[in-house]
Amino acid sequence: MSTPVLTAVAWPYANGPRHIGHVSGFGVPSDVFSRYQRMAGNRVLMVSGTDEHGTPITVQADKENSTPQLTADKYTRQIGTDLQGLGLSYDLFTRTTTGNHAEVTQQIFLALHRNGYVVPKTTRGAISPSTGRTLPDRYVEGTCPICGYDGARGDQCDNCGNQLDAAELINPKSRINGETPKFVETEHYFLDLPAFTKTLGDWLGTKTDWRPNVLNFTKNLIDDMRPRPITRDLDWGVKIPLDGWRDQPLKRFYVWFDAVIGYFSASVEWARRSGNPDAWQEWWNNADARSYYFMGKDNITFHAQIWPALLFGHNGEGDSVLPGGGVGKYGKLHLPDEIVSSEFLTMSGSKFSTSRGRVIYVEDFLRDFGPDTLRYFISVAGPETQDTDFTWDEFVRRTNFELANEWGNLVNRSISMAHKNVGAIPRPEAPTAADEELKALSRKAFDTAGAHLARSRFKLAAAEAMKVVTAANKYLSDQEPWKLKDDPTRRDTVLHTALQVVSDANTLLTPFLPHSAQKVHEALGGTGVWAAQPELKEVDDLDIDGRVNPILTGDYASEQAKWESKPIEVGTPLQKPSPLFTKLDPALGETGPEWAPIIKE
Ligand code: MF3
Ligand code: ZN
Repeated sequence: MSTPVLTAVAWPYANGPRHIGHVSGFGVPSDVFSRYQRMAGNRVLMVSGTDEHGTPITVQADKENSTPQLTADKYTRQIGTDLQGLGLSYDLFTRTTTGNHAEVTQQIFLALHRNGYVVPKTTRGAISPSTGRTLPDRYVEGTCPICGYDGARGDQCDNCGNQLDAAELINPKSRINGETPKFVETEHYFLDLPAFTKTLGDWLGTKTDWRPNVLNFTKNLIDDMRPRPITRDLDWGVKIPLDGWRDQPLKRFYVWFDAVIGYFSASVEWARRSGNPDAWQEWWNNADARSYYFMGKDNITFHAQIWPALLFGHNGEGDSVLPGGGVGKYGKLHLPDEIVSSEFLTMSGSKFSTSRGRVIYVEDFLRDFGPDTLRYFISVAGPETQDTDFTWDEFVRRTNFELANEWGNLVNRSISMAHKNVGAIPRPEAPTAADEELKALSRKAFDTAGAHLARSRFKLAAAEAMKVVTAANKYLSDQEPWKLKDDPTRRDTVLHTALQVVSDANTLLTPFLPHSAQKVHEALGGTGVWAAQPELKEVDDLDIDGRVNPILTGDYASEQAKWESKPIEVGTPLQKPSPLFTKLDPALGETGPEWAPIIKE
């Protein structure tokens, strides 16, 4: 049975290159999951893009003496290149500054407005006493009123993850010049979250199988249902489509309001590109579809509380729809089925931080070590359920012992021996119990590893695949085919068995190691695309100042990888294989690379 699966991947801010902390949260997990789902025969739609509005972008543009749009243009290109290099198989990776995104955002807002779920309110906003300019929430810093953390920003506390208003901070200070902001009256639209208390609570109550870190967090959200401002005094963002608001130079939607809508607007854009503008309905208007959202833990609030509230509100659900209200323009939209949140990848116990120079950029990493070593590291040693330190030492160990020694070696010696002795995939005869046992083990791993992958339990899934690799290495050591010169029939049977299990293990590892999986496919005599890769494509139809911009997309339907044991074909010619992974110099574990040296503190 084929299920429509939406993989909704958090949208990185277009304000800088990505570091490995970012991609360990949203990037690699969502791609491993999507690749598995496609291999299992499901219809995957994987969408995201760069998050380009709000102060995260204006702050960076100011720093660079550039405009927000040019800054976003520059970083969407860089981020697209990073994500493509990692092999993240987006069906569409687009941007939030497109014409389509603005239109969809405004339509969702209008549906919420008709249903009575957004209301204008006078509130207090910060301005800088010295310049008289409005001071966006993100520029205000102070003590978090919820957890007491000192460095909370006016939009969010990075320590407890709660969304804040600048006016709530204790001891607020401007991050620009340290002065105490003045708070003045200003009018904003608020999302009436309290009007979703019952609806959201009932819905969350059904989500018992989410990761414990996400469940614990979301339980607390229900106790914090205050109205949330969804507009800002800012000149950069999607305009508010109402008379009296539309033309105001300083009123825009809050960046998080439009960003989460991106999951839906990107699906609409993808459908248009596919040639069938209604194709998004299969994922969004279909109760049988499944949707999975991937992100780092600082994003949980927006995905488990705000986004579901917007969807309920658009759908004419929620606790108090206005008379005359009802389902919005896009029909009943599908609520998230699972919020899959990672914790943080840390370095020497702290969050990756560009400002403190504690950072490892994806671009540097890919140039020196390639994508699959990083994908593997994140999958087996990443912050799946708790904050986890990245160390070069562990990276070297995982790469050298698990990828090069265990997996690379198995591939290399089995194919080399078959190539040298037979020149092709050998014919098996009269398999022994040991042969059957090994093949049964690898066939069974499709069920066990598959069940883990379907639930985003990547460490357990990778461990199941690696168990097969270990068993196959042990099998070769026990059977010693290199000593069977006088018994070619038995030797060929052993080599055939080993190659079948190499093929199975390669399939099991494909979601984690798609680039090397393609190589192993070819080393086994296969042709064509085994695991498809995303492409950067220049397009001129995003409606952004008439410019050409890159998007990520790909043709994944034609890839051959299926989640099953595929019988190898006797007689397929084999070439001498080249090594799959290069061993790293153990000194790297001590020093780190030149571009991210380990600083002994
Ligand atoms: N840009 C946000 C961040 O980096 C994530 C936005 S996810 C979204 O934390 F989908 F809501 F946009
Ligand atoms: Zn806090």
